[in-house]
Amino acid sequence: MTARRSPSLAQGVVRVETVANLRRAVGVWRADGHRVGLVPTMGALHAGHLALVEEARRRCPRVVVSVFVNPAQFAPAEDFDEYPRDEAGDMAKLAALGVDLVFAPGRDEIYPAGFATTVTVAGAGAGLCAATRPHFFAGVATVVTKLLVQCLPDVAVFGEKDYQQLVVVRRLARDLDIPVEIVGVPTVREADGLAMSSRNAYLTPDERRIAGGLNVLLADVAGRVARGEAASGALAWGRQRLAGMGFDSIDYLELRDAETLEPVERATRPARVLAAVRIGGARLIDNRPVAPVVEAAG
Ligand code: PAF
Repeated sequence: MTARRSPSLAQGVVRVETVANLRRAVGVWRADGHRVGLVPTMGALHAGHLALVEEARRRCPRVVVSVFVNPAQFAPAEDFDEYPRDEAGDMAKLAALGVDLVFAPGRDEIYPAGFATTVTVAGAGAGLCAATRPHFFAGVATVVTKLLVQCLPDVAVFGEKDYQQLVVVRRLARDLDIPVEIVGVPTVREADGLAMSSRNAYLTPDERRIAGGLNVLLADVAGRVARGEAASGALAWGRQRLAGMGFDSIDYLELRDAETLEPVERATRPARVLAAVRIGGARLIDNRPVAPVVEAAG
């Protein structure tokens, strides 16, 4: 093993780059009877990620955060090269939260020469974001499967901000019998309600002001559906409003079942209003829960 690939202690957090060193650390914790939580990230950590880490810490005495900008979930024309990276800042934030270990593999550690396996999730992994980013969920599902198998945590924590991703990850863990509890954490928002995202850094001040309206619109649509309005009417109203707000384009605005992501016309079970819009160099996604409509008795 070369010195570079040995565990290193950066700002009090153990940092490893290899699966072997990750497994060694997790094995020692398990032998001591500790539960282990994993928070998969692509770095450039903001308060939304830190909420995931705090949730993992609440549930498990040992917490691993993976930091890997996964090339497989970016199409060739997408922002892999520009995606924000801030390793020193990330390590400082994770040290402040008392994270036990950061797993920061290189590309070859995750995708060694000859790598030929892809995990795809039908159903939840189709439509919505997959309609315009057809490569995306196979890339996410493959890397998340690998991270879960590499770390074998008791709990893995994901943000509800990427709601379709959360449903896809729940599905693959269930389907592949990976013994892990997948936990979703509510979206952390800026003061005006904009969902926190590493890609918000791409917004100009004018675009940032417009972007703040997305969550308000989603809350309005969710309110209409919760009051009993049919999805077709509420979504048509919402799309018209979105078109006038200054976004460049709307990828989708949909009402879906919260568990399966199947389209629903009325929220008789927990549902989600989900949207993706584009403005300037950014693509923004967000969603809001819709409580089931209670039918009046008699
Ligand atoms: O949500 C993300 O940051 C990524 O999609 C994930 C889950 C870390 C997989 O690369």
